[in-house]
Parts: sequence; structure tokens; C-alpha cells
Amino acid sequence: MAKDRSRYVCQSCGAVAPKWQGRCDACGEWNTLVEEAVRAVPGARAPRGNGGRARALEPVALRDVQAPAVDRLSTGIGELDRVLGGGLVPGSVVLIGGAPGIGKSTITGGALGNLAGAGHRVLYVSGEESAAQVKLRAERLGAGALSVPVIAETDLDTVAATIEAERPDACVIDSVQTLISPDLGSTAGSVAQVREVAGRLMGIAKRLGVAVILVGHVTKEGSLAGPRVLEHLVDCVLQFEGERERTYRTLRALKNRFGSTDEVGVFEMREEGLVEVADASSRFVEEATGAPGSVVLCAMEGSRPLLVEVQALVAPTELVPPRRVANGVERNRLALVLAVLHRHAGLPLGSSDVFVSVAGGVRVDEPGADLAVALALASAASGTPLASGARPMAAFGEVGLGGELRHVAHPDRRLAEAARFGLEPVVAPGRPAGTLQAALQHALAGAASVRAA
Ligand SMILES: Nc1ncnc2c1ncn2[C@@H]1O[C@H](COP(=O)(O)OP(=O)(O)OP(=O)(O)O)[C@@H](O)[C@H]1O
Ligand SMILES: [Mg+2]
Repeated sequence: MAKDRSRYVCQSCGAVAPKWQGRCDACGEWNTLVEEAVRAVPGARAPRGNGGRARALEPVALRDVQAPAVDRLSTGIGELDRVLGGGLVPGSVVLIGGAPGIGKSTITGGALGNLAGAGHRVLYVSGEESAAQVKLRAERLGAGALSVPVIAETDLDTVAATIEAERPDACVIDSVQTLISPDLGSTAGSVAQVREVAGRLMGIAKRLGVAVILVGHVTKEGSLAGPRVLEHLVDCVLQFEGERERTYRTLRALKNRFGSTDEVGVFEMREEGLVEVADASSRFVEEATGAPGSVVLCAMEGSRPLLVEVQALVAPTELVPPRRVANGVERNRLALVLAVLHRHAGLPLGSSDVFVSVAGGVRVDEPGADLAVALALASAASGTPLASGARPMAAFGEVGLGGELRHVAHPDRRLAEAARFGLEPVVAPGRPAGTLQAALQHALAGAASVRAA
């Protein structure tokens, strides 16, 4: 029965087949056939009055298009609102992706709780957990979360009918992979099902003006069929990152039709749920040890400067090749910094194990971290703390292959953030040195003179 209502379409050439096959007959590509629902649209095939031709539309100049100003819905979670570009847009579809246990249900549950508290109609659709399990989490999150109406359902038709009947302002689907359309024979979570579910919910969202948040799972390899195929469909894609074992989580927008994708929200997982870390820099600077191998990096997270502590440990080893462990910085950039230290700064670490880590579980993916990593390594190798008094040393800048220091974006914002915490002077390209070697000498000499005084 289900079979009659579906067909298989090649994602490469668009050829249609009545049943699944490994290889497309038309283009010869393997594994490209995906099931789709065939829906009879009433009147779609009916002969048209004007000799089969459709009626022409009159285009309207954009300035004359009626666009009523819509108020965004504030989720009551400042960091989430900021990443969304100022709150949820009614009628939009937001996809929140993240590894298992990262806190997707926690943040969406909390957001709905706040919206309900502010007098909005909300609905939480749980396909993964029973209503009782959702309640257990809500009890942790506080009274607001307990007032959220919930249904535990996986049937797409039932969920769609409930949304139509309830007409909430905001609705969370947890998760998009668990809903299943009976029109398709594919299993829940397959590309076909996920696309069908998202497509249907999207139609409802636009028609009724419901802000829909789809929760999606991604594995570390991104291999699970699911959220990836939805990215072009939805209005906004948010990625929840962080290591489960660490308390800090970051939320960033990969795509946003209604705002910038530069913003990053920082959260901490606590007993009472995800707590915003509005001033993450102060947290990290406070924790910075100022011990040998510790340097504060003036990083940029989107448009926001963020101070994080970079720690390095250098230990002699018999191992060949020696260990290179990078946490929070890219392994390739660590290799590059080590090579430049060796070739251009007279610091060979070829017979030492090297460990570099960004404290707090933060990930820094920018070349601007190079100089801080190099300084931390030099400090660790020489056992010299790079602290000016009680304050750890701050740095930023890219290291070039020729041993030169290169400028990175937003130096003014980075310097201002460091100044806010009294971390001065900051070692950066041209401040005072233009090469890695000169910067190292300056930093180590400065530290030695402070200690002598
Ligand atoms: N009592 C608690 N105190 C602190 N943290 C907790 C507590 N209970 C759960 N957690 C944290 O919450 C996380 C689970 O959050 P949540 O269920 O929102 O994640 P999720 O992303 O929805 O997971 P899934 O992919 O399984 O749906 C756990 O990994 C744990 O870190
Ligand atoms: Mg969950």
C-alpha cells in the first residue's frame, strides 16, 4: 500500500523509478535513488481553460510588496536569541544540530518554557522520549519548563494535525529523525523520511506563522542521513558544539536567513540546565594559571572577541615520532608552528612530546591562534612563566611559513578585550616584533626581567 504512494527519484539526474534499485538506469550513478511521496494535488492535472496555458502573473516591484513588520519571539535565552539574529522569526524553520547528549533537548525545552512564561502558545513534540521523561528534564529546568504542553508522537500526520489544531506560536520537534510519514516505505531517519517530514512541517510553519525548531542529530563524522540534507531547506541552521565531558558548549549559526552567521553563544551545562555564559572571557581569564606554558589568546568568535587560555606541555621522550596532541587547536596548525619554531626561531622540539590544549573545552579554529601557541610552547620548553606580574601574557597573530608574524582580522577588538582585563601589553604582529623569533625573545626577556625585579 505504502509503495503505491511513493516513487524513487535519482538525486543525480532526476530519473524516476517505481522501485528501489542500487544503480540509476538513466545516468548510471550508484546509490542515488531516494524515496519520495507521490501526493495527488487536487486540480493540479485538470485541463486549463486557456488552451492548457497557465495564467501569467504581474510582477510587483519590491518596494510595493506588502511586508508586515513581524515581531521576533524572544526565547528568553540571550545567547540563543543573539545567534538567531534577535529571536525566533514567526513562520521560520530553525534546525538545531548537535552530537548526542550535547543539550539540544535542554535548550529547546528551556526556550519553550520561557516563551510559555511570556504568554506565548507553545508545543513540544517528543519523538524520542516519553512525556514522563520530558517531564523529568523539565523538573530540572524549573517551573517555566513544566508549563509547556507536550505530545509524545512519531506519526507525522498526527503531529501535523495537532499543530494545525493547537496553532502554537512556537513548536519544537525533537527530533526530526524520529518522525515518520506513513506515505513512505523508508524507515524513520532516512533521507527520504527526513526530507518529507521537514517539507511538510515547513509548509505548515509558513501557512500558520508557527516558528518551528527542528532538533537533528549529527554524528561526529556527519554520516547520519538527516540534517545535512535539510540545510538548504530550512531558514536557519544552528550547530551545537562542545565535548560532552566538558561543561562549556558553543552554539553557532551555520546559516541564517534573518541574521548574521558570525555570532556564537557560549553556555555551561549545569544541574539547572544550560546557563548562558555572557562574559566568557572573564571566566577564562580568571582561570588562567600564568604558569610556564600558559598564554592567554585574544581570539575572535564571530564578531565577538573571546579571551581563552592556551596551555602547552613539552616533555622529553624516547618515542619516534614524538607525540603531538592538540585539543581545541587544529593539529595541522600545531605542526606548522612547531616547524617554524624549529626552522626560524631556534627552538627544536623534535625529541619532545608536545601537548597543546585550549582550556575549558573551547575550540579555536583561526590562524590568529598561532602566536599564542608558539609562545606557550616556548614558555613550556624553557620553564619560564610568561606572566607580567599576576597577569598572564596575552597574544594573537598568525605565524607565516617564513617565520614572520601576519596580521589577523579585528586587532582593535582583540586589544580592547585584553585591555578590559588589564592584560597589557599584548604580543601581536608588529607589537613590538615582526617575526616569531623576535616576539619570543621579547616575551621571554620581558618575563625574565619581571621575575628579576
Ligand atoms: N543533573 C544534571 N546535572 C548536570 N548536567 C546534566 C544533568 N542531567 C543531564 N545533564 C546533562 O545534560 C545532557 C543531556 O542533555 P539533553 O538531553 O538536552 O541532550 P540532547 O542533545 O537532547 O541529547 P540526545 O541526543 O540524547 O537527545 C547530558 O549529556 C548531561 O551532560
Ligand atoms: Mg534530546
